[in-house]
Amino acid sequence: MAILVTGATGNVGRLVVDELLRAGAPVVRALTVNPARAALPEGVEVAKGYVGRPESLDGVFDGIDTVYLAPVPAVAREVAVLARDAGVRRLVTLTGGPGTEWYGIEADVEASGLECTHLEPGEFMSNATIWAEQIRTTGRVVGAYPTAANAPIALEDIAAVAARALLDESHSGRTYELTGPELLTHPQIVHEIGRVLGRDVPFVEAPREEAEEALSRVMGEYAGWYLDGRAAFVDRPQLPTTAVADVLGRPATTFAQWAEKNAGLFR
Ligand SMILES: NC(=O)c1ccc[n+]([C@@H]2O[C@H](COP(=O)([O-])OP(=O)(O)OC[C@H]3O[C@@H](n4cnc5c(N)ncnc54)[C@H](OP(=O)(O)O)[C@@H]3O)[C@@H](O)[C@H]2O)c1
Repeated sequence: MAILVTGATGNVGRLVVDELLRAGAPVVRALTVNPARAALPEGVEVAKGYVGRPESLDGVFDGIDTVYLAPVPAVAREVAVLARDAGVRRLVTLTGGPGTEWYGIEADVEASGLECTHLEPGEFMSNATIWAEQIRTTGRVVGAYPTAANAPIALEDIAAVAARALLDESHSGRTYELTGPELLTHPQIVHEIGRVLGRDVPFVEAPREEAEEALSRVMGEYAGWYLDGRAAFVDRPQLPTTAVADVLGRPATTFAQWAEKNAGLFR
């Protein structure tokens, strides 16, 4: 069974490639606009193109049974039809839950009639790197909405679930809301980063404008969008699901484990 991974150098896509190779997938084709720069691992067939530009996908689906579809909402419907017409049977999509900009991908690709598995990850644990510079330069984090809580997920867990869904068609027709295993506030996350650094890293609550100003240095125009999302979690926290453990048969990565592995980013 041949599998195509789109966005194969992306944060999720690259890990999906690794997971598929580890699982012994017989044929893995990886899509990138720049095969020379992509540095994809040996054993992968590299194809040139970008899912966001359907006109670049000529021939890339040939001989492919199942596709990991990176999230580009504007073209999802068109790409699914191209894939279907080229003989693809199944899609595993990275989307987002209801209310996110990626949610529409699900209905768009379903319209093609292909068998689909939809992965709806919550916030990525790696978003904690938005504080890396503050922690390195000031030893603390200035933020807002300290009681807002959600259950961030490790990229490795998303990729592991994607690989499982790509390799095992019993996941067709399923939608998985993917989260980490614990409900966490930002003060708790910052505390955990401090723990792996071996020092206290305080979370200092600031007025919204001040928190947005601090974040905009790393997130630019998305700082306001990100804080609006936090504000929504004050009254309606995103609760952890068991989907990662259910699919993988092992517990989802905790933030403490993620922080230990990535402590160097904050030193
Ligand atoms: N909760 C969340 O935070 C959440 C939830 C769901 C989805 N998402 C979204 O999921 C995605 C994360 O996946 P990802 O980091 O693996 O990235 P991605 O968006 O799946 O794929 C990015 C790859 O696409 C390729 N690409 C080619 N041309 C591009 C262009 N013009 N613009 C962007 N990418 C281009 C690049 O590879 P080459 O240059 O090698 O071709 C790049 O590595 C993000 O889009 C994120 O916003 C986030």
